[in-house]
Amino acid sequence: MKKTIFLIALICMAAAPGANARKKPQVKQHTVVEIPKVQPQLIAVETENTQLLLRTTDKGQLQQLRYGVKLDLAPFRNSRKHAAIVFPAAGGYTADATALAVTYPGGSVNTELYVTGFTQNEAHGVATTEISLKDYVTLLEVKLVYEAYLKEDVIASHSEITNPGKKAVTLTHFASASLNVPGEEFLLTQFHGDWAFEMQTERTPLPFGLTSIETRRGVQTTQRANPSFVLSVNAREFSETAGDVIAGALEWSGNYKIDFSRATGGSVDIIAGINPFNSAYTLSPGKTFQTPRMVWTFSAEGAGSASRNLHRWARKHQVYKGGEINPTLLNSWEGAYFTFTTPVLTAMIDDAAEMGLELFVLDDGWFAKDFPRNDDSQGLGDWELNTDKIPEGIDYLASYAHDKGIKFGIWIEPEMVNPRSNLAAAHPDWVVRSEGREILQERNQWILDLSNPAVQDFVYGVFDNTMALSDKIDYIKWDCNRPVESMGSDYLGAEQNRFYIEYIQGFYNVVRRIREKYPDVIVQCCSSGGARVDYGAMKYFNEFWVSDNTDAITRLKIQYGTSMIYPACLQASHVSAVPNHQTGNMTPLKFRFDVACTGRLGMELQPKNMTEGERAFASRCIESYKKYRDLVFTGDQYRLGDPWNTDLYGLVYVSEDKSRAVFFAYSTTFRSRALEAPVLRLQGLDPSRTYKVTELNTENSYWWGNGGRYKGGYLMSEGLDLEFRRMFDSAVFYLEAK
Ligand code: DGJ
Repeated sequence: MKKTIFLIALICMAAAPGANARKKPQVKQHTVVEIPKVQPQLIAVETENTQLLLRTTDKGQLQQLRYGVKLDLAPFRNSRKHAAIVFPAAGGYTADATALAVTYPGGSVNTELYVTGFTQNEAHGVATTEISLKDYVTLLEVKLVYEAYLKEDVIASHSEITNPGKKAVTLTHFASASLNVPGEEFLLTQFHGDWAFEMQTERTPLPFGLTSIETRRGVQTTQRANPSFVLSVNAREFSETAGDVIAGALEWSGNYKIDFSRATGGSVDIIAGINPFNSAYTLSPGKTFQTPRMVWTFSAEGAGSASRNLHRWARKHQVYKGGEINPTLLNSWEGAYFTFTTPVLTAMIDDAAEMGLELFVLDDGWFAKDFPRNDDSQGLGDWELNTDKIPEGIDYLASYAHDKGIKFGIWIEPEMVNPRSNLAAAHPDWVVRSEGREILQERNQWILDLSNPAVQDFVYGVFDNTMALSDKIDYIKWDCNRPVESMGSDYLGAEQNRFYIEYIQGFYNVVRRIREKYPDVIVQCCSSGGARVDYGAMKYFNEFWVSDNTDAITRLKIQYGTSMIYPACLQASHVSAVPNHQTGNMTPLKFRFDVACTGRLGMELQPKNMTEGERAFASRCIESYKKYRDLVFTGDQYRLGDPWNTDLYGLVYVSEDKSRAVFFAYSTTFRSRALEAPVLRLQGLDPSRTYKVTELNTENSYWWGNGGRYKGGYLMSEGLDLEFRRMFDSAVFYLEAK
């Protein structure tokens, strides 16, 4: 009985409203914010030959109709064609790819963007389209900017994300741009690598699902993979001359990510930008976050033409003084390493001048007093002259070079510090480090925290003070020999998630300042070779050191990969000694010159170790290079074959008016004398013009027709049957229309 009463009491308590809860629970109603209807419109982003066609729906959603050759817009006005969302945000219908994801106060993670307006204008050969979008619930604003380089058929696009609210929001994805590419199959060319092994060309069919090209090293990002790609559309085979190709490159020197999301539906979404890895970005009220530009080009005529589009654009619009001729040089590194004194250097200057080189560069090892830089274990950070090695001073050396009629350059690595240095002792808080953790060393060094403005001033000062050592410094080699590890910043403190981004912004601040004060000094971008090869940095640098690998045969592949995206005017390429210091390979001096002459030619060896005959040959190669190098720096480049897959590889550089060209050919294998002479067919010439063909860099011609006159049509269809019989045979021909 007792039991029954207790049960009833319990049931009554549960049923009685408010018996357990003090307050009546409130049901939150769901109100939907209305999206204003807009007039559907086409937005055409066009260059001379290409078209990125966007449209807005009546709800204001931004879609991409196509990216390809330029077409009449009429059929697209009422098109019901499937169109992909541009710059897909995490929110609404789930997209396969994400360009933007934001966490808002209160925890919401949904963003839906609708167009509120757009503008288009044109100036100096660039047509700019700015499309404004808005999330009507959170009021977040995004501007998508497309800069169409009319003549070069290149479109650069980036986003600007603004928080108009009263509280901070957190950006967890913040891409620069998105692009949708329809197709049945795709062949992706990307460039991976490592030290002395950069820009290795990898071609793979693009699988369904997600493929990413990315790095997370903070700096030295391109030592592992370059922020660029070439995508052959509807293709299984790579072609230099045929088929639809989209190539892209990101203007950013830090962590990046390029995602390719291939959907079963038959297209790939490409999302490119800063890598959000460990970088969730707090966007304060009223602030705008501007992403770096992603550069795209389209060609219906294969990868060669896509590369040439990028090269032309880079020379004209992106590279610092792009297309201007940088001097040939002798660099002291492989010839002297850390072991030199004034007489060694002045002798090298004498030899450089005698061979016809135009600049001498004093590499690592000239600085630090208390911790003399006699090897890589110490001294970085202490940028004062080592007077034991060069008691006469840098001005003496620079003047010596100028007196010999050549320019003078010097090496710095201002972002770094050795633990064994006065700088490390004076400013431990400037080092990238994480509290309580060992500061990892690479090449015995630490990296300075460029997110800190005081460090930016210091790094600027290293450049500035070095320039002050002599008014005859014409060239600076800026090196950077380790990535970020144990990421951490005393300066950023609670906001260390900004480090990866603010380091690179700090780097750009410094080089921008340097350019304001030193517009004319030639600055080479070096990073253990080619670990900082990207279009973000190239806005401030005249050239880059392609790789520490100076072995001509393996270098050919590195330069080939590099040429897919970057023009030859940027590629510093040096002739070094044999056996090669990196690979041990032995290649003939002629082969080494013929490879190095396809970029900015230099030498990097001890001339004293060359025979008289070798020096005379070097002088001849340098002299002839000076006659055609304008073609290397400003001409259109055509790749013939592929050093990865063909035994014969060639490069042609043609002047814009097609009146002159230079043609390089290389045998990368042994060929029996019993075989027919291999043929290379030229490209890019005017078929109806007659060219005089003259072989350079040799006394014994590799072609029976040397010195004759031939129609461009003949040279392009019959080609040159070259007497290449041995591995490392090579030839250079100069062509002039008569
Ligand atoms: C790495 C560079 O790539 C080399 O060319 C040379 O400058 C060394 N650093 C010097 O330490």
